[in-house]
Amino acid sequence: MHMRSLAISALLTATYASNIHDVCTPSYVQQHLPAPDFYQGLTIDTSTVTANPVINVTVVDNDFYPDAVFDYCNVSFTYSHNGVNDEVALTYWLPTPTDFQNRFLATGGGGYAINSGNQSLPGGIIYGAVGGLTDAGFGAAQSNTVTQWLSSNGTLHWHNIYMFGYQGIREMSELGKEFTKSFFNLTQSNTTLYSYYQGCSEGGREGWSQVQRYADAYDGAIVGAPAFRWSFQQTQLLYPDVVEQTMGYYPSPCELQAIVNQTIISCDPLDGKVDGVVARTDLCYIQFNISAIQGQPYYCPATPASPLSPAIPAQQGNVTQEAIAVAKKILEGLHDDQGRRVYFAPTPSAQFTEAQTGWNATSNQWGLSVLSLGGVFVEVEIDLLNGSNIPNLNGVTYDTLKDWIYEGMQRFQGVLETTWPDITPYKQAGGKVLMFHGESDWGIPTASSVRYWESVRQIMNPGMSYNDSAAAQNEFFRLFLVPGATHCASNPAEPNGPFPQTNLAVMIDWVEHGILPETLNGTIRQGPSKGQNQQICAWPLRPVWSGNTSNPECLYDQQSVDYWNYDLNAFNVPIY
Ligand SMILES: *[C@@H]1O[C@H](CO)[C@@H](O)[C@H](O)[C@H]1NC(C)=O
Ligand SMILES: *[C@@H]1O[C@H](CO)[C@@H](O)[C@H](O)[C@H]1NC(C)=O
Ligand SMILES: *[C@@H]1O[C@H](CO)[C@@H](O)[C@H](O)[C@H]1NC(C)=O
Ligand SMILES: *[C@@H]1O[C@H](CO)[C@@H](O)[C@H](O)[C@H]1NC(C)=O
Ligand SMILES: *[C@@H]1O[C@H](CO)[C@@H](O)[C@H](O)[C@H]1NC(C)=O
Ligand SMILES: *[C@@H]1O[C@H](CO)[C@@H](O)[C@H](O)[C@H]1NC(C)=O
Ligand SMILES: *[C@@H]1O[C@H](CO)[C@@H](O)[C@H](O)[C@H]1NC(C)=O
Ligand SMILES: *[C@@H]1O[C@H](CO)[C@@H](O)[C@H](O)[C@H]1NC(C)=O
Ligand SMILES: *[C@@H]1O[C@H](CO)[C@@H](O)[C@H](O)[C@H]1NC(C)=O
Ligand SMILES: *[C@@H]1O[C@H](CO)[C@@H](O)[C@H](O)[C@H]1NC(C)=O
Ligand SMILES: *[C@@H]1O[C@H](CO)[C@@H](O)[C@H](O)[C@H]1NC(C)=O
Ligand SMILES: *[C@@H]1O[C@H](CO)[C@@H](O)[C@H](O)[C@H]1NC(C)=O
Repeated sequence: MHMRSLAISALLTATYASNIHDVCTPSYVQQHLPAPDFYQGLTIDTSTVTANPVINVTVVDNDFYPDAVFDYCNVSFTYSHNGVNDEVALTYWLPTPTDFQNRFLATGGGGYAINSGNQSLPGGIIYGAVGGLTDAGFGAAQSNTVTQWLSSNGTLHWHNIYMFGYQGIREMSELGKEFTKSFFNLTQSNTTLYSYYQGCSEGGREGWSQVQRYADAYDGAIVGAPAFRWSFQQTQLLYPDVVEQTMGYYPSPCELQAIVNQTIISCDPLDGKVDGVVARTDLCYIQFNISAIQGQPYYCPATPASPLSPAIPAQQGNVTQEAIAVAKKILEGLHDDQGRRVYFAPTPSAQFTEAQTGWNATSNQWGLSVLSLGGVFVEVEIDLLNGSNIPNLNGVTYDTLKDWIYEGMQRFQGVLETTWPDITPYKQAGGKVLMFHGESDWGIPTASSVRYWESVRQIMNPGMSYNDSAAAQNEFFRLFLVPGATHCASNPAEPNGPFPQTNLAVMIDWVEHGILPETLNGTIRQGPSKGQNQQICAWPLRPVWSGNTSNPECLYDQQSVDYWNYDLNAFNVPIY
């Protein structure tokens, strides 16, 4: 019996291999490219087609898909925009003909990258989907596209910015769907192709950039911690630096870490379960006074010099009143000089990554270190200078941050801001959205996703009660706050928290089988409980444990809904 099944699997392997070798060739791909008039204004360069089978690839330990072994057909080709001297490179990974399940998955990038290299594509292949990515014309420098956002100092390169903003992902998705249908003969057999999107951070913003514009974008979009409300998001990265400069105190990384660690320990039980996870950061903010951490001793060992950093001596002391004051100010979120709220606060329990100071080996002190991810926004997109960061924060106040946000909001409204709140066409076309956001995200405030969910709810359901409109929205667009998770990843500081590793499987069940995800499937990804399942509550319900169960109860809590609802009263225009 055992011998026979081995023989059969060897035979099957041989059959797969011959199938993939038959069709995974440049000439087969050339014959199945989208027709020249398929997409207005684009010309595919058929001479650039490459195709090669890749056999027996193993992926392990990824937060966004389970471990797997698979074969795929590696296809690439380029196209250009008529009248523009550009070249956009597309990559598609195709499952073997036997593994293909009539699905297409578009993927995006992170930071200023428009794609994630070979990291996201396996997430499609293992569910029988063709996976696609684009370089959007940025070439080898796609991992940091902002170096190509100016034509010269003073002049934005709008074509490149639009390609990054939404056009590149649209073209990759449309060409990819058409190519997939043709490659697998779906057009002849009149078989439905299901299409999906999956991305986190900038990749989450890219997903929204499609859903907000195109009714036919996808059947299901999975968007994690989106970097949308662009000008706000980029600028608020600088807020902790401005707090330190304004208050004149530069806490060491160890002192900041001690505050985070103590916050996690103190707030862990507030959700009803002592597991090292702060599942209710709202209760933490309301009930825990971080002044209690003042005076706590901290210690971090010395680190030797490396090519990227000088030697750093051991950091030791007791948490100071000044450090607590800095942390409190950061946790209040950005207000203007008149005390009006400009943006959301980070959640307590999130790492103070943006507040990291730098060691000055000359003065032997910790000092300002401007986060380049935020600084490059001001340097390139506001000041129109081709640099990688602002040189310093001289003269920068909380009002300066507000002004940068306002200027950026107007400048990039139609291309990068990505908070258009009416997604009726997508809903009417049957599209689904699964949005998730780590509740201990250091980089993008968790409240940012709550705000957008609530904006869409209000705009699309005028006059309805909260409960009715929330129910109407949850039929097609669900938001899940992930206990303990950090920015688009499971969190080493809260290892017992779940992470939604099987989102595409959940979305496929929803789209293709009508199974609504009442809760989101999560898996503990680290620590002694690694591999255990834990369900995640759908907004506006919040997790509470009354016993030592793995799954929480998901309850409505008005105080929590109120906590997440911010009045951005520094602005006179609606902020969605
Ligand atoms: C696939 O790779 C694994 C190791 O990654 C190896 O053990 C196995 O023999 C390979 N199978 C084939 C058919 O090449
Ligand atoms: C996939 O194709 C591209 C373009 O031809 C090539 O650069 C890359 O090495 C290929 N990857 C694999 C794993 O074969
Ligand atoms: C992705 O690329 C890296 C570097 O080339 C390689 O080590 C890794 O095996 C690749 N992963 C997959 C899934 O192809
Ligand atoms: C901007 O700087 C990058 C290097 O970071 C360079 O490749 C690019 O050509 C520069 N662009 C302009 C318009 O000067
Ligand atoms: C599509 O159909 C053609 C003609 O029947 C066949 O040669 C080819 O192998 C099919 N492609 C796939 C991916 O099965
Ligand atoms: C193709 O399928 C659709 C529904 O899936 C159906 O409406 C249409 O009539 C079919 N066309 C042909 C030519 O079979
Ligand atoms: C937090 O504790 C400090 C020090 O004990 C106290 O001065 C402050 O009033 C407390 N804040 C709140 C909001 O209770
Ligand atoms: C830190 O506080 C402890 C008491 O908790 C005290 O014994 C110690 O002297 C303090 N250390 C410093 C460096 O102030
Ligand atoms: C480091 O400290 C020295 C001496 O106080 C000072 O001159 C220098 O500007 C500091 N460097 C930075 C990057 O702040
Ligand atoms: C453009 O601005 C950058 C950053 O300030 C500067 O390094 C570069 O020299 C400027 N380029 C030109 C041509 O002025
Ligand atoms: C904070 O907790 C982590 C474990 O999550 C530990 O590795 C680290 O040493 C702690 N740091 C401080 C300063 O307490
Ligand atoms: C849910 O996650 C568990 C692991 O935690 C996994 O075994 C199961 O297949 C997942 N369910 C779906 C629908 O993906």
